[in-house]
Amino acid sequence: MKRLLVTGGAGFIGSNFVHHWMNNFPDDRLIILDALTYAGNIQNLDGIKNDHGLTFVHGNILDLDLVERLFEDQNIDTIVHFAAESHVDRSILGPDEFIRTNIVGTHTLLKAAKNCWLDKGTGIPHRFHHVSTDEVYGSLLPDDPAFLETTPYAPNSPYAASKASSDHLVRAYHETYGLEVTTSNCSNNYGPYQFPEKLIPLCIANILDGKPLPIYGDGKQIRDWLYVEDHNRGVRVILKEGRPGETYNIGGLNEWKNIDIVRLICKLIDEKLKRNDSYLRRFPKTPVSKGESSETLITHVADRAGHDRRYAIDPGKISSELGFSPETTFESGVRKTIDWYFDNEAWWRSIMDKSYLDWVNKNYREKGETD
Ligand code: NAD
Ligand code: TYD
Repeated sequence: MKRLLVTGGAGFIGSNFVHHWMNNFPDDRLIILDALTYAGNIQNLDGIKNDHGLTFVHGNILDLDLVERLFEDQNIDTIVHFAAESHVDRSILGPDEFIRTNIVGTHTLLKAAKNCWLDKGTGIPHRFHHVSTDEVYGSLLPDDPAFLETTPYAPNSPYAASKASSDHLVRAYHETYGLEVTTSNCSNNYGPYQFPEKLIPLCIANILDGKPLPIYGDGKQIRDWLYVEDHNRGVRVILKEGRPGETYNIGGLNEWKNIDIVRLICKLIDEKLKRNDSYLRRFPKTPVSKGESSETLITHVADRAGHDRRYAIDPGKISSELGFSPETTFESGVRKTIDWYFDNEAWWRSIMDKSYLDWVNKNYREKGETD
């Protein structure tokens, strides 16, 4: 039986990981450490089948005493580190929290892991898995080859720079102290429980409320999208079979222009609404309920500062070494995601009402409207 400390386990990818892990390894113990920032939501952990194997701790990864106490009291042998500030737009408006959580917070976990696993000489077999992003590699030109694990780091946003910094610290704790680490650098994720400030859930929620779909700049920026369940299967194979000290890129060979994704979401939602009159009654503000296409909501706004043009992952290493490949095609993943947001309206409404969107509209989008 493993005893995992999952940081950020109430956020988007972390909570999906907890569901995934408990479904596959019901005898393991999971201790979730999450500060429940705007992006964390304890409801994301509802419905976990084996919740007697789960302990939720409301706390901050910056709290060294707390983390060390958890290590000792819970006999942790594995860390899966998801906790982070994760939204690029927020990092542009206010980088400080990104430096604190992503850099200092990761270092706090590394220190605790070193103290408990190495310095006390327990000899306990351990693993520190660090969840990172492809954004550390910077931006690609249209014909550049996709990111390899050996691609030099060139982060452009404060978010990407903070994650790059944390990746270097993780590496250094392996090289210098012998901590058994692995790192994964994954492309853009989508799926259930994603906070509706990110492109895909934002568009779904805005279509259902008949609100504009903001496209930054020309909308031709490219991202390489992966369904969240596939990301977590990737993390799982790295935890089980990955070599300590190694990094693995995780991606789906699935490059899309933003504008094309938004059009796909419009098309799939319009089809779904037209199939069922009760949806039209439930979402009376949708363009379809007035006989129009959701594409009429597309609104080009000023571009994001320092906006990376293209990301693409070369997943050759994880595929050849660990036999990993994604299982969910993009269209089926987007359909599943749309269905989830239709079925969980109360979840996203409660979040959107209380927090980010008014703030970002004031600080960012209204300043930048181009048409
Ligand atoms: P998220 O913003 O949805 O969730 C982050 C979670 O971390 C939240 O539950 C939040 O409460 C928690 N948290 C934040 N600061 C904390 C702190 N100081 N102490 C304890 N908990 C804290 O993020 P996500 O999209 O689920 O991303 C998870 C990880 O995956 C991040 O490290 C991110 O960099 C990485 N990643 C994300 C993507 C993506 O597309 N979302 C892609 C690749 C990698
Ligand atoms: P996002 O979901 O914020 O992820 P990331 O910045 O980490 O890639 O954005 C995905 C892409 O969509 C990115 O190129 C920015 C763009 N975007 C928009 O055009 N409009 C929006 O409202 C948002 C949130 C993102």
